[in-house]
Amino acid sequence: MNDSFRTLGRSGLQVSAIGFGAWAIGGPFMARGKPAGWGPVDDEESVAAVHRALDLGVTFFDTADVYGTGHSERVLGRALSGRWDEVVIATKFGNTFDAATRTLTGQDISPGYLRQACRASLERLGTDHIDLYQLHIGDAPPERVDELIATLEELVDEGLIRSYGWSTDDPERAAAFAKGPHCAAVQHEINVLHDAPAMLAVCDTHELASVNRGPLAMGLLTGKYGPDSRLPMDDVRGDSPAWMTFFKDGRPAPEFLAMLDAIRDILTSDGRTLAQGALGWLLARSGRTVPIPGIRTVAQAEQNAGALRHGPLAQAQLEQIDELLQPHAG
Ligand SMILES: NC(=O)c1ccc[n+]([C@@H]2O[C@H](COP(=O)([O-])OP(=O)(O)OC[C@H]3O[C@@H](n4cnc5c(N)ncnc54)[C@H](OP(=O)(O)O)[C@@H]3O)[C@@H](O)[C@H]2O)c1
Repeated sequence: MNDSFRTLGRSGLQVSAIGFGAWAIGGPFMARGKPAGWGPVDDEESVAAVHRALDLGVTFFDTADVYGTGHSERVLGRALSGRWDEVVIATKFGNTFDAATRTLTGQDISPGYLRQACRASLERLGTDHIDLYQLHIGDAPPERVDELIATLEELVDEGLIRSYGWSTDDPERAAAFAKGPHCAAVQHEINVLHDAPAMLAVCDTHELASVNRGPLAMGLLTGKYGPDSRLPMDDVRGDSPAWMTFFKDGRPAPEFLAMLDAIRDILTSDGRTLAQGALGWLLARSGRTVPIPGIRTVAQAEQNAGALRHGPLAQAQLEQIDELLQPHAG
């Protein structure tokens, strides 16, 4: 095993240290009256991006049933067909949706719906098991944890899933889920502009993988968006929902652009691109992190997979970044 691989928490599964986030390749869908996709997609380009990532050593793929109301799972399934033995697949449940109108309709975490959702994801993906099955409702009531764990453990026993986790930014919820014997990971937001020390501590205590969403701050960390950029209205960043911090009113948030400027030289050290530097920060932050940058083109697959070659930033660089970001804290 080398630096290009990490262990997916207690599951023991080996995954590439950089994964592939498949939200954008789901294409357009609506949630609460706003676009929840990343604009139009070209499925042929999406499939080519998955293949390029595979060829460059990426073996961990994260999707959700609701991305494109099933479309992301279908496209990923098409791209991974015949190659399931090379990959570790993660998907999510908990949102209900209408594929005919490509609309999110609500939430359901009942045992009956969970079973139905699992079978539907397996069918769309075209495989016989899910390696990591994640609860997609970040603020689901903690009182439901025991019931959820019981159903997920049944799915493990039946061979339909191998492990499970919660996609949440709440360390207490992540810790509560960790009592499930086959709980292997928490998926949470963390990037060089937004650290999550309490969640990483929970991962250490409970031997969970830290699957990192938003590792590129929704694209802001790639440096391609400046103060004058305006995201299209059919992009989730264009008509930004209230929870979004890195983009506001369709533009990159100025305070985060200023933070990026402060650390640009360190992120681009040793010939890294900004995206590779941002991923290198995550790899250095903990031995449990597995960043899953969103990828929608072959070029993005190549650049993000290149972070495997560059590896983690040095600890001294993390300290320098902390110092440079101090004036921006609070
Ligand atoms: N609640 C949840 O469970 C949840 C929430 C969010 C995300 N996620 C997961 O986490 C994954 C990643 O998070 P994210 O999509 O929020 O954001 P991200 O990875 O921080 O940013 C992804 C976006 O950045 C741009 N990009 C990526 N690589 C690039 C490169 N090398 N050069 C230039 N641009 C690049 C692409 O968008 P453009 O080309 O359009 O700029 C891409 O869609 C998702 O795909 C999903 O699997 C889960």
